[in-house]
Amino acid sequence: MNRAVYPGSFDPVTFGHLDIIERSLAITDELIVGVLNNKAKSPLFSVEERVNMLKEVTKHLKHVTIQSFDGLLVDFAAQSQANMIVRGLRAITDFEYELQMSQINHALNSKIETVFLTTRLEFAYLSSSTVKEVAGMGGEICKFVPELVVERLYQKYGVIR
Ligand code: PNS
Repeated sequence: MNRAVYPGSFDPVTFGHLDIIERSLAITDELIVGVLNNKAKSPLFSVEERVNMLKEVTKHLKHVTIQSFDGLLVDFAAQSQANMIVRGLRAITDFEYELQMSQINHALNSKIETVFLTTRLEFAYLSSSTVKEVAGMGGEICKFVPELVVERLYQKYGVIR
């Protein structure tokens, strides 16, 4: 049985992330979405908010669970008895960082393989950061994130629709 971890900040979850979550289920039996609780960063949404939004928008998917983690990703994967890390690749600009991360993770724990899914073309430009920027300026974001996340983003920025 394969169990994979799909790690990220998910601040907040976008349709690009959801696409990777859904497509990951074709290559693994179970998927744990690992939400990084990085105390050094100051995310817009707390880790609890990010976990709860992910739980809500993936509730229709069997074999997907959402958990937060801190510390090393490979340690979280090993504790979760996962043998795979899934990451999405949007463009060549992602590649250098992702390659380095997969190599360091492999050096730390060679039992865990990183696999990459290329993002669907329609989501290639999408990132949580750009969605936050558009939302903060009151722009339309319903093409980028699920309705629940649209509401939460506008609430955070005090945007009245
Ligand atoms: O969504 P992101 O911010 O691109 O996700 C980055 C993430 C969470 C995958 C990465 O920062 C991570 O794995 N952090 C945990 C610490 C770690 O294990 N780093 C790799 C070795 S330097």
